[in-house]
Amino acid sequence: MNAWNQEAITLKAEIDAELDRRLPPETEPPEVLHRAMRYSVFAGGKRLRPMLCLLACEAAGGKRSAAMTPAVAIELLHTYTLIHDDLPAMDNDDLRRGRPTVHRVFGEANAILAGDALLTLAFEWLAEAAAPPPYPPGALAVELARAAGSRGVAGGQYEDLASEGRTIQAEKLEFIHRRKTAALMAATCRMGAIAAGASEAVVRRLGEYGEEVGLAFQVTDDILNAVSTAEELGKTVGSDAARGKATYVALYGVEAARRRACEMVQSAIARLEGLPGPVEPLTLIAHFVVERGH
Ligand code: IPE
Ligand code: IPE
Ligand code: MG
Ligand code: MG
Repeated sequence: MNAWNQEAITLKAEIDAELDRRLPPETEPPEVLHRAMRYSVFAGGKRLRPMLCLLACEAAGGKRSAAMTPAVAIELLHTYTLIHDDLPAMDNDDLRRGRPTVHRVFGEANAILAGDALLTLAFEWLAEAAAPPPYPPGALAVELARAAGSRGVAGGQYEDLASEGRTIQAEKLEFIHRRKTAALMAATCRMGAIAAGASEAVVRRLGEYGEEVGLAFQVTDDILNAVSTAEELGKTVGSDAARGKATYVALYGVEAARRRACEMVQSAIARLEGLPGPVEPLTLIAHFVVERGH
């Protein structure tokens, strides 16, 4: 195990501890809803987005701890998107993070409510975390809201579903990936930089890094759906082809998709040059994102 792996484990443990400290306990009524929220949050996600947020803060010249609140808020929002993405009305998946999906265990209504509650709680936490000057206090919440709404995740999810069973052009596929996945990764990195009180130029550059990493991440997710196993991924495989999803693999094949993901990662890493803080961990995460698909 190299030094970064060890550091990533420590960082993940800090993120998990903060989530545990802040989420309502399972013993608080309504118990079922709080159990469903914790069931999905603590099912074993990679915590990629909160890590990116903390490391972007550091790369922007801040202390990692300055970005802890936005980092955990983003993980709540991300978890809500997964719960809703798995619902019968969307991807209809039975397995997530190595466990039966929330609607399978708690029922569909409770899965919808757990998602709603996580989404709302993310903004409650952010509303309590004022951005430092020169940013207006609500800057972090604005970033996350933009990335999550109809111009971001929700819009991308709409197009993803509307494109099922259709042959789509490369441009439309990029539209989907930018919104359903890359927008949140870009916002994650921008929020880390904002929490550091960095200049707008630094915020923009880290946002571009996050966007490219996000695109590479979704291409790799498409590859893994085609070539990996449920044991390894903790979620259903082969479902994209079965549902006729528009993916990089469907459009270009696995090898071309791998090459494209590597190019995207190189382009992400190029954005890190000349930032005020250490960028090595962001470089390693970017490589990790595509190496999963090999
Ligand atoms: C899955 O994201 C959803 C996509 C955007 C492809 P992750 O692979 O980061 O999911 P977790 O958080 O580790 O479960
Ligand atoms: C991931 O969508 C994006 C969101 C959940 C917003 P996918 O449907 O491609 O991801 P997995 O494979 O279910 O994680
Ligand atoms: Mg989906
Ligand atoms: Mg899905």
